Amino acid sequence: MTDASRPITVADYERLARERVEPGAWDYQSGGSGDERSLADNVAAWDRLSLRPRVLVDVASRDTSASAFGVALEHPIIVAPTAVHRLSHPDAERASARGAAAASALFTLSTISSVPMEEVATTSGGPRWFQLYAPSDREACRALVERAAASGYSAVAVTVDLPLPGNRERDRRNEFAVDLGVHLPPDQPVDPHTGLVVMPTMDWADLAWLRSVCPIPLLAKGILRADDAVRAVDVGCDGIWVSNHGGRQLDTAVAGIDALPEVVAAVGDRALLVVDGGVRRGIDVLKGLALGADLVAVGRPVLWGLAVDGADGVQRVLEILRDELSLAMALTGSRSLSEITGDLIV
Ligand SMILES: Cc1cc2nc3c(=O)[nH]c(=O)nc-3n(C[C@H](O)[C@H](O)[C@H](O)COP(=O)(O)O)c2cc1C
Repeated sequence: MTDASRPITVADYERLARERVEPGAWDYQSGGSGDERSLADNVAAWDRLSLRPRVLVDVASRDTSASAFGVALEHPIIVAPTAVHRLSHPDAERASARGAAAASALFTLSTISSVPMEEVATTSGGPRWFQLYAPSDREACRALVERAAASGYSAVAVTVDLPLPGNRERDRRNEFAVDLGVHLPPDQPVDPHTGLVVMPTMDWADLAWLRSVCPIPLLAKGILRADDAVRAVDVGCDGIWVSNHGGRQLDTAVAGIDALPEVVAAVGDRALLVVDGGVRRGIDVLKGLALGADLVAVGRPVLWGLAVDGADGVQRVLEILRDELSLAMALTGSRSLSEITGDLIV
């Protein structure tokens, strides 16, 4: 790579990744559901927010440190769970978890992983959460959260926005199907066309049961409404992950960043708040924090880094976002995350 073609932005990684990933896998990863309105809006939503920078603050030293359920983090940018990383790189989740750890970013491992959670834990050693697609068999479900706790995952993020997979038309046209990964029992119901897991019966009682058996903090991932957020906290969830699943579930569902304010207003500091969807710049991270998120997650950018340069690419993508966040803090007069306040947003 010549110096001029060296990737310096997340968008550069997207362009380079597209040249490397097989077209069906590319469509699976980059696509959304239906007319892909939510997919596009996830990016546009950040751009609709303008900033009101503070000036004449001594920002020579800035502190990006954050924390998640008592685990100290060097910065608030975390890796969202995405399925089957071997579509991007043969070292799959081993490489992405290593890259995240090298960038001091918390890594969330998908249930639909190509590598067992124990192996990811020993190869990376960084801070990590486990994302749960709750198996319909309760004993299988309990076993997964117990394994996660035993192998050093410090929280479980249970995905609540996938009773059925969204209408992924690119995958239907390509007849692209993914496997179930290494964690789910072989008899877990799946969508016959896509191979994706389905959980049509999962309800609030199941969430309450999961809370009762999960030995570590539990986040509900895929919440977009204040009432659902309050209900999840009332059944004992420790965190709320505000997300429309990267525009892959209900098309025209509100962007996470647009849903965040009502969730913040309803839940306050009763739960750790994560937001994701369309984060491509450190400035987006700053806006998420300003509107009340504790942590901001990225999905596809990590896959792009992985496809371009394995663990090093993942590390670099996350460092680009971290450095952009740090600069955005300087330019908004924010010396620490607590100074990234709502008045920075128009
Ligand atoms: C290829 C792909 C696979 C995904 N797999 C999962 C998954 O297994 N579990 C889950 O909870 N979310 C999954 N998601 C959603 C992400 O966790 C996250 O909410 C979303 O990617 C954030 O949007 P972004 O990609 O624009 O950053 C997936 C997203 C993508 C793009």
